[in-house]
Amino acid sequence: MKSINSVVTLDRVDGIAILRLDSPPVNALGLALREGILAGIAAALDGGARAIVLICEGRTFCAGADIAEFGKPLVAPLLPEDQAAIEASPVPVIAAIHGTALGGGLELALACHYRLAVPSASLGLPEVSLGLLPGAGGTQRLPRIVGVARALDMMTSGKPVSATTARELGIVDALAREGHLLDDAIAFARKVEGASAPLPRVRDRKVADTPEEAAAAIARLRQQQPRLFQGFKAPGHICEAVAASTLNDFEAGIAEELRLFQDLLASDESAAQIHAFFSERAVSKVPGLGKEVAARPVKATGVIGAGTMGTGITLALLAAGFTVTLVDRDAEALRRAAARVEKTVLDQVAKGRLNEDAAKAQLARLTLAESVESLADADLVIEAVFERMALKQQVFRELDAVVRPGAILATNTSFLDVDAIAAVTSRPGDVIGLHFFAPANIMRLLEIVRGKAVHGDVLATAIWLARKLGKLGVVSGVCDGFIANRLMARRGEAADALMLAGASPDQIDRVMTDHGFPMGPYRMMDLVGLDVVGWDRENSAGRTVQEILCEAGHWGQKTGSGYYEHASGTPVVSSATLAAIDTVRAREGISPRPIGDDEILSGLLDVIVNEGAKLVEEGIVYRAADIDMALIAGYGWPVYRGGPMFWGDAVGLSGIVERLKARIAQGQPITLSPLLERMAAKGQRFVRA
Ligand code: 3HC
Ligand code: NAI
Repeated sequence: MKSINSVVTLDRVDGIAILRLDSPPVNALGLALREGILAGIAAALDGGARAIVLICEGRTFCAGADIAEFGKPLVAPLLPEDQAAIEASPVPVIAAIHGTALGGGLELALACHYRLAVPSASLGLPEVSLGLLPGAGGTQRLPRIVGVARALDMMTSGKPVSATTARELGIVDALAREGHLLDDAIAFARKVEGASAPLPRVRDRKVADTPEEAAAAIARLRQQQPRLFQGFKAPGHICEAVAASTLNDFEAGIAEELRLFQDLLASDESAAQIHAFFSERAVSKVPGLGKEVAARPVKATGVIGAGTMGTGITLALLAAGFTVTLVDRDAEALRRAAARVEKTVLDQVAKGRLNEDAAKAQLARLTLAESVESLADADLVIEAVFERMALKQQVFRELDAVVRPGAILATNTSFLDVDAIAAVTSRPGDVIGLHFFAPANIMRLLEIVRGKAVHGDVLATAIWLARKLGKLGVVSGVCDGFIANRLMARRGEAADALMLAGASPDQIDRVMTDHGFPMGPYRMMDLVGLDVVGWDRENSAGRTVQEILCEAGHWGQKTGSGYYEHASGTPVVSSATLAAIDTVRAREGISPRPIGDDEILSGLLDVIVNEGAKLVEEGIVYRAADIDMALIAGYGWPVYRGGPMFWGDAVGLSGIVERLKARIAQGQPITLSPLLERMAAKGQRFVRA
């Protein structure tokens, strides 16, 4: 065996060259691999190879270009040079694929003369998730194999296909046996080496679709999936590149692809999405908590409180394979919860997302109970009773007395002090906050709230659980509202101040949806219920617009009106809201002025960045990127804008500080984060390089 460089080796079996790539963890096509492939192909040919098998070590075939290189000057040889060397090879080059052939990895394979894959492999072009398009010939080669419509689907969804599907589509030439990839690739090489016909190259094929057919397919896609294109730049560019492939001039198509790729690579959208890619992986890393800290085993779970959240949490646990004992002291609540669980699971079957056996198995894992005694053997109990400290403490005392030692006791509290809850138990180290977002079976964010006393392995278990539930676990320290709700509370206050100053609720909501949020603060309040967040029924004094609306029974969508009137299909700001705004303005002596959209945007977002800076300086988060991921996963912050700290870096921290100071001077109850001020003064950034 010959070392080509640190990551590529060359072997020979009966005249067949085996080029092995070994760059852990995912064989991303960084400079060393690109150099190694180029030199390896040359060495194999110099050595008189009759065929070349390209195969990867470790868990996967190449997972794409090395994303960490983006944003830096690219160093030759680039991937197209490797591909050109492969296509120019006088002997067949065979890609032998296991794991995932993604992005540049699949593009490398598409330049090979043949592709072989084990059935468990998957193949795809996920660049769109990074705000990019396949930039190494993928937009030109894939349509030549699968046609325009399928290629568009794969590239705009970014979803990989299984090796078996890839075989049916012709992306893969043959399937190999699981565990025998190399043997089968060598056998395949023997079959094709020395064939008299010219070597097959994807680039030499013609795209079956005409430019008119491509245009029709693109129009269909835009019509069927408009949201793919909203705010995202890459899908439109992918369409343009694929359209270019139908002119059947390969080199011209590649040039067009490169132009479009470079445009995306320089875009803010892509920078934001690449930031989200790395941040998503960073959030699960807890400083000081190494791999040696094992998660506690969890199989049997309990949920106490069968209301909105308890039911959603139960659904999430069942779907992930746990058994669940759902406890409520109210038999009617239990009955409602069981009915909702059953309906949701059966709806999944009706929509074809779940098969009947799996649905039955999920429902069979649920037990209902009226007493905490039933939770004695649970490995993990999640509490979701009413948001009242005395009640939660009482429930935790009961759990502490009943549940086996070593089990984890979690609270889903939104705002209460997790330390004060833990303190009433004999095992504060086993108590943790698991803050789900409604609907808990759907929303991706899970805030993991670490109290002062929490044991490392309890934290590790929570991080493991988040992954198992398919959620993004973000660790937060104890504070009022933790990460996402604390930030959004500041946005709500800023929105109210601007509403009184002259903006209308629908203008404010529109500015937020234009920025890419699924809805603005007032539509959201109407959905959640004005009575649920920020209204203290006992102490309501009719001082705020929300209090006035609540007292008059305008609680949002569920009562037919809140900030908006929901009677007709399109919500309109209600006359009650306008009157309430007038009342508060008159009392506070505010004469309304016209407010521009820009003032609303910065007004609502600057305070989030300011509060985010406080989370960093208070040590509530480990890193600023955690804040970005919490708002992307928990509040639908548009991923192509990268989250609030990324946004703050992009618009400039010093501008934010200046604007906040101006608002403070006007008497707004904002306190400036010293960290933000310092960083702005030094020209530093939170998350952008
Ligand atoms: N470049 C650089 N690093 C990468 C990478 C890539 N393409 N893919 C994964 N990594 C890193 C991750 O950041 C992570 O690093 P860490 O351990 O320091 O956090 C490590 O590899 C392991 O990744 P995961 O934790 O995601 O491992 P999984 O086993 O869960 O998933 C995977 C493996 C399915 C390959 C997943 O990592 C993935 O989807 N990767 C990205 C694939 C992708 O988007 N490829 C396209 C790249 S763009 C491109 O190719 C452009 C071309 O068209 C020119
Ligand atoms: P809910 O009012 O829908 O349900 C609470 C349930 O707890 C009721 O069924 C009640 O019968 C039961 N319960 C009360 N005391 C009990 C006891 N001693 N023993 C057993 N059951 C008892 O409340 P919801 O909205 O589900 O909220 C629950 C918790 O989740 C609260 O702490 C809330 O702050 C938090 N939360 C709520 C979110 C939401 O959007 N609703 C989002 C995230 C967290």
